[in-house]
Amino acid sequence: MKLSALALATVAFGAVAWAAAWAAEPLATLRGSEIDEETAPPALGDPSNRDLRRARNYPEQPPTVPHKVRDYQVDLNVNRCMTCHSRRAVEESQAPMVSVTHFVDRDGQVRAFISPRRYFCEQCHVAQHEVKPLTGNTFVDVDKMITGLGAKEGN
Ligand code: HEC
Ligand code: HEC
Repeated sequence: MKLSALALATVAFGAVAWAAAWAAEPLATLRGSEIDEETAPPALGDPSNRDLRRARNYPEQPPTVPHKVRDYQVDLNVNRCMTCHSRRAVEESQAPMVSVTHFVDRDGQVRAFISPRRYFCEQCHVAQHEVKPLTGNTFVDVDKMITGLGAKEGN
């Protein structure tokens, strides 16, 4: 009985100490304000517009967009992206044609026009900004990974 009271007291003390530490150290948040406070969002920066295609980190990565796309309308009536990237448009625009995978519908049929699954381009293709990454990452390109492993195994 005594022992469990002691254990309870220890847990209670621990909880109080934890709460105090938590109160002293505010949560790390990108929002930077209380959850019920509405703040003015930071101004949008200028997207990179260098027109140079970037390397893909793996073969199936949707390539990032190397040009501005602000105000490009993509809705039920208009797809601004397709005015340059469609099969017929590329001769004039000199843009790369959408990949042939974009014509394949959910039943595996290759259609004459892009599949509805690929209609909203910016679901997958995003413009880029020249900014410092918010967090680090340890991504390793597959080519490097293969070389690294090869070296380790003495091949
Ligand atoms: C005025 C013509 C035009 C429009 C509109 C346009 N693009 Fe492009 N896009 C290009 C050209 C040209 C390139 C080749 C690189 C360059 O010159 O920027 C390109 C490159 C790209 C690439 C890179 C492809 C690769 O292999 O690296 C992607 C992805 C892309 N565009 C997506 C889009 C999306 C998404 C939209 C609509 C929001 C769009 N584009 C609208 C002309 C256009
Ligand atoms: C569901 C995701 C998704 C959507 C939506 C999508 N794409 Fe892609 N796109 C990809 C992926 C993944 C690749 C690379 C692999 C491949 O070729 O399928 C790609 C490749 C491309 C390429 C490079 C083609 C090449 O041969 O180098 C262009 C250009 C492109 N997409 C444009 C567009 C445009 C324009 C739209 C909208 C009409 C669009 N995509 C919609 C995922 C998507």
